[in-house]
Formats: sequence, structure tokens, C-alpha cells
Amino acid sequence: MAIMTKTKRQLTIRVQFNRNFQEYNTTKKRYRLAKGSAGSGKSVNTAQDYIIKLGDMRYKGANLLCVRKVAESNKDSTYAELKSAIYKIYGSDYRKYWTIKASPMSLESKITGNQVIFRGMKDDGQREKVKSITFDRGKLTWIWVEEATELYEADVDILDDRLRGNLDFNTNLYYQMTFTFNPVSANHWLKAKYFDVKHPDIFTHQSTYLQNRFIDEAYHRRMLMRKARDPDGYRIYGLGEWGEAGGLILTNYTVEEFDSNPARFDYMINAQDFGFNHANAIGEIGFRDGELYLCREIYEFEKDTSELIQIANSKGINKKLRMFCDSAEPDRIKMWRKAGYYAEPVVKEPGSVAAQIDYLKQTRIHIHPSCINTIKEIQQWKWQKDEKTNTFLDKPVNFFDDAMAMLRYSIELERRKGQQGRKRRENRTTAF
Ligand SMILES: Nc1ncnc2c1ncn2[C@@H]1O[C@H](COP(=O)(O)OP(=O)(O)O)[C@@H](O)[C@H]1O
Ligand SMILES: [Mg+2]
Repeated sequence: MAIMTKTKRQLTIRVQFNRNFQEYNTTKKRYRLAKGSAGSGKSVNTAQDYIIKLGDMRYKGANLLCVRKVAESNKDSTYAELKSAIYKIYGSDYRKYWTIKASPMSLESKITGNQVIFRGMKDDGQREKVKSITFDRGKLTWIWVEEATELYEADVDILDDRLRGNLDFNTNLYYQMTFTFNPVSANHWLKAKYFDVKHPDIFTHQSTYLQNRFIDEAYHRRMLMRKARDPDGYRIYGLGEWGEAGGLILTNYTVEEFDSNPARFDYMINAQDFGFNHANAIGEIGFRDGELYLCREIYEFEKDTSELIQIANSKGINKKLRMFCDSAEPDRIKMWRKAGYYAEPVVKEPGSVAAQIDYLKQTRIHIHPSCINTIKEIQQWKWQKDEKTNTFLDKPVNFFDDAMAMLRYSIELERRKGQQGRKRRENRTTAF
């Protein structure tokens, strides 16, 4: 859809829009929410919509405040999007129509005098600053909260409070808050506040990358890969739907019989998470084409290391495989080595748990039905919840997660040496 509009100086503007945003762009409801998948066109659409309106004499006296949790992130998001909308809409003559300032960031239409400013809501200092905003002409009428899920509900209430007072000086004006975001969790306050209620002041919109006619082929292919590997993530980032209500970490697994003959894998390893009061979990795992196959598990409570070694020996756990273990207990690793296992610590560094989980989420996981304890754990392994904001954090719940730790350690080679598996496959005779 191309929109043509005339400004005071009778400049004719042609802009390309995605048709599915038509109603979103015309609604005057106080709360306008664009929830959608990554790449659905929310940001570009919103920026174009604002630039057209702000430069239109009918909306003289309107001003826009762009908000991110962290003020600085406006630079590469809202500010960058609005600037590129200006370049696209006004072409090489844009300087005749807009003043663009970089420090502090601001935009001003030379036709209407309408302005755009940028703020954050990271701390009380920034929140206070928002309360004292004024504009040279007109009033603060519009607020765009980009990546709105980053904000607390209280932040939005402060912003909402800013939109009040008489707009009689221009009857075309109206107050509106716009929220653009990927719907991370069904427990997010945004859902309860704006989506679970029907209210005449609320306009909600959902979009997906499939409706964005400007998306390239490579993006479509990447999304299809995600759909196959991380269906949970695909629902959020591909389809723009609210995330898993339960906050489960791994849903990309299947429990199934499979051939666990070592010859069919690119390589195999053992992985172990130590425990005494907690379970001590050991897994024998094969990798093939980047997919993980958990063939066997040992899962024991209150056994010391020599007892565990006996159990592993009696079950015929393959001593020739590398065994990736929790790095926190070098003594135990030493005992396993003395017993003839290639035990070694995984490399731990800041952020490694998150990186391991991220990798696991992108990996197809096959679990042999005999691994009953791993199955029990994976079915309930969840993200921690911040009770105050009712949102999930990016930390897993530290409970009943010993087999999950074992899985995290098992992908050490996959994660660190993406090449390793491929090399071994070319030269299978040198398997561990
Ligand atoms: N109206 C449009 N005109 C031209 N390109 C667009 C338009 N809308 C979206 N796009 C393209 O699609 C990409 C994704 O859009 P974006 O608005 O960034 O998605 P979202 O904010 O929903 O993640 C943009 O980088 C741009 O290349
Ligand atoms: Mg965006």
C-alpha cells in the first residue's frame, strides 16, 4: 500500500506500507499496542507513521517522546528508524523539512514545529526527567515505547500520567501511547493490562514476519530453521504469540527409541554433574549432524565417588570417551581419572550457563525412554520468575536440575568447537 499525503508546501509524499498496519496507523485510541514476531515490520511502520503525522499541518502541536528502558538504546532503534523514515519519505531534500540533531538527539519538523525527543526509564533519575518534559510548541501528545517488555508497569504509569490536559488548541490532536514489542512471556504484565481486557481505549495488533512483504528470502530460511530447532522460540519470534505460559526452558526434545550404536554418531561423550544430596547424574551422549542423543543415564543419590565408579563400571560406561564434568570439584575428577575415565572439567566463565542453555535450546534433543530421570527433569525445568513483575528471568530454577546440568556439560565440544564434530566424521577411525 502506498500512501500519498500533502503537506503545507504541497509536497507529495509516497511511502510504502504493509497493508496489515492500516488500522493500527489510523486508530486514535489512547493505547496502541503492536505485538509481533521479530521482523514483522513494527518499528519501520511506527516510525513512518509518526514522521508523516508529525510533518502534517493537521497535527500541528503534537510532539513525540520515544522511550526505551535504557535511554542510549534509542540511538540505534527509535532515533535510527525515525531518521531513515525521514530520508525515505522526504528524499534528498529532507533538510528543507526536518532538523535532525544528534546530541542530544532530537528531531523537529520545519513545517509544523513538532518535535521528537528520546528518554530512558532505567532509574529514578531518568524517571524524574520524564516528569519535567516540555516542548517549545504544543504539547506532549504521543509516546512510543519501543521493546516495551523491558519496562516495568510502574514506568508506563508514569508515562501515561504525562498525557493529560486540554488539547482544544487543535481539535485533530489526541493522546496516544504506542507499544512495540516481541511477546516474551504470557505472564508479562503487558498481557494482563492490555490484552486480557476489552476496553474502548485499547487497540491491540499482532503481526508476523510472514505478513511483511519487505522481508528477504534468507530471513525466511533462518526462521524455518528456528521453527524446526526451537519451536518455542518460533512461536514468540516467528509468530508473535505469547511465550510458553509455564516458562519451560526446553521443549525441543523427543523421547524415542533410537539406534545407539556408536558407529552412527559423529562422536560420543560422557557428561557428569556431581551430587550427593542432589542426584549425581551421568549421561552417555552421541552427536550426529548437530543433534543430541542421550543414550543412557546413571542417576544416583547419596553415593560417594567410589560407589559411583563401581556402578559406572558395572553398567559398562565407555571409558574411552571424554567425560565432561562439573568444574567445581577437581577432587572427584581426579578419582574418576584414577579409575580410568577421561574425566575433565568443562570450562566455566561468566555467562557460560546462559550460553549452554541457549545452545541446548537450538539443538534437537533425542532422549532414550530408559533415561527416566532426565525425562522427569526436562519436563519441569523452568525459568525463575520475578514475583514482583510477574515475569520470567533468564536464570533457570535451581531445583531438580542435575540431569539438566549434565546436558549442559555434554554440549561442551559442540559449543566450543563447532568444527570438531565435522572433522571426526571425516575421520571416524580416530573417534575418542
Ligand atoms: N514499510 C516498509 N517499507 C520497507 N521496508 C520495510 C517496511 N517494513 C519493514 N520493512 C523491512 O523489514 C525489516 C523488519 O522490519 P522491522 O520494522 O524492523 O521489524 P520489527 O520491528 O517488527 O522487528 C526492516 O529492516 C525493513 O528492511
Ligand atoms: Mg523492531
